[in-house]
Amino acid sequence: MAATNCPTGNQKKILILSYSFSGQTSGLLRQIQGALIEAGHQVHKERITPCRPLKFPTGSIISCLKMMVTTFLRFRVPIQELSPICQQSFDLVLLAGPTWSYNPSGPILALIDRDGPSLFKGQVVLPVISCRGYWRVHLFGLTRMLQRCGASIPNSMVFSHPHKEPWRTIGVFLKISGKSPERWPLLRRYYSHFGHSREQQEEACRFGSLLGQALRQGQPLSTIDFATSLAIF
Ligand SMILES: Cc1cc2nc3c(=O)[nH]c(=O)nc-3n(C[C@H](O)[C@H](O)[C@H](O)COP(=O)(O)O)c2cc1C
Repeated sequence: MAATNCPTGNQKKILILSYSFSGQTSGLLRQIQGALIEAGHQVHKERITPCRPLKFPTGSIISCLKMMVTTFLRFRVPIQELSPICQQSFDLVLLAGPTWSYNPSGPILALIDRDGPSLFKGQVVLPVISCRGYWRVHLFGLTRMLQRCGASIPNSMVFSHPHKEPWRTIGVFLKISGKSPERWPLLRRYYSHFGHSREQQEEACRFGSLLGQALRQGQPLSTIDFATSLAIF
């Protein structure tokens, strides 16, 4: 756990639980975590790790299509045990991961199946979602699953990729397959990079500061505006 300059009375204990397949969620979380530590809170970050590592990129169009089908069917991805510290009580839990075929990712589904009630009962949980652009069904379903475990969900952070359709869908699909669409002469005009932009990383840092400040001041987390046009493109 790391902490800095906050009167101890206002210092909160925060758990960040995260899964990231292609590094996008991790990038956003680095910013959020940094801002929470800067605000003086105690943060424990725990990666959700599949028992058998998933390969990014998948390596071919066929293997990418297979992954799309299994994720659409909500296949669980078995995960390793979390460290015992995660079973403690926290002032806030951030549960972060990507959207997979309109659902939470397989490792997060496995986590909720296996540890949901013991991990989330009585906790305040803030879902953090990284996606290409289609997050509503994911957030709705995840919120319901967490509420059934006994968590309360006052707010959420969603970040979508900042490219227009159909380029971001084509770009994400090719990137997951192992291609580099941002270098293809016909595509790169419309698809300059994979994933979130630098401005979105800065927005994630700002969200972390807002959250850190709200926790210090006892402000209800539901009053923070995370649905900005920079985050959700
Ligand atoms: C198998 C798979 C399915 C996906 N399905 C969706 C989807 O339904 N909606 C969406 O907006 N993004 C979808 N994406 C894109 C990811 O959510 C997006 O690239 C995200 O930023 C990845 O975060 P990560 O790098 O932390 O894994 C999918 C990605 C993968 C690998």
